[in-house]
Amino acid sequence: MKNIAVFASGKGSNFQAIVKAVKKGTIKATLSLLVCDNPCAPVLEKAAAAKIKSFLVQRKEFPATKTFEAAIIRHLKREKIDLVVLAGFMRILSPAFVRAYKGRIINIHPALLPSFKGTQAIKDAFNYGTKITGVTVHFVDEKVDHGPIILQEAVKITKKDTLESLEEKIHRLEHHLYPEAIRLYIEDKLRIKNRKVKILNLRKPS
Ligand code: GRF
Repeated sequence: MKNIAVFASGKGSNFQAIVKAVKKGTIKATLSLLVCDNPCAPVLEKAAAAKIKSFLVQRKEFPATKTFEAAIIRHLKREKIDLVVLAGFMRILSPAFVRAYKGRIINIHPALLPSFKGTQAIKDAFNYGTKITGVTVHFVDEKVDHGPIILQEAVKITKKDTLESLEEKIHRLEHHLYPEAIRLYIEDKLRIKNRKVKILNLRKPS
């Protein structure tokens, strides 16, 4: 069984969706660890409730990013982590970290990359007035919000939408798309060639 670590800094609704998919057996892997850099993050309580080990690690406790990340990597090695799942982790991982886990880190972004990179993607798309936005799950490479795209789905912005209703639609889609992308990874269905991700035997949506 492969071991997954989720990295999160906030609410943890994606973490929760992943916990559910693992419990249901849709993702056939062990959710071994939550890595969190924020002592006030509600995701910590969610991990405790689900009896998942968490590693709280704050950047300010370390002299440099290098030692901070080394502490995380030590933990990942101890837990024999195969896949790192970034779910609202508010720190950018250094190129050295990304190289250490090359092809084994994925991220979810609440917009259709390469549009609306950054931490305010839902709001930025809404304020820009785009008619379509969406969700992207991608491999992490050394550039931010940039790696090969695994899954991507669109969400319409209608004239009735408010920022809040759009956020809700995006999150609902995230909670479906992220577990699906993780399942594909765990079942070894993803191949990257020329930055394009090929999905082997894609299951038809029911
Ligand atoms: C999600 O919108 C995700 O796309 C972004 O951060 C948010 C995390 O939300 N990277 P939650 O903590 O999973 O509720």
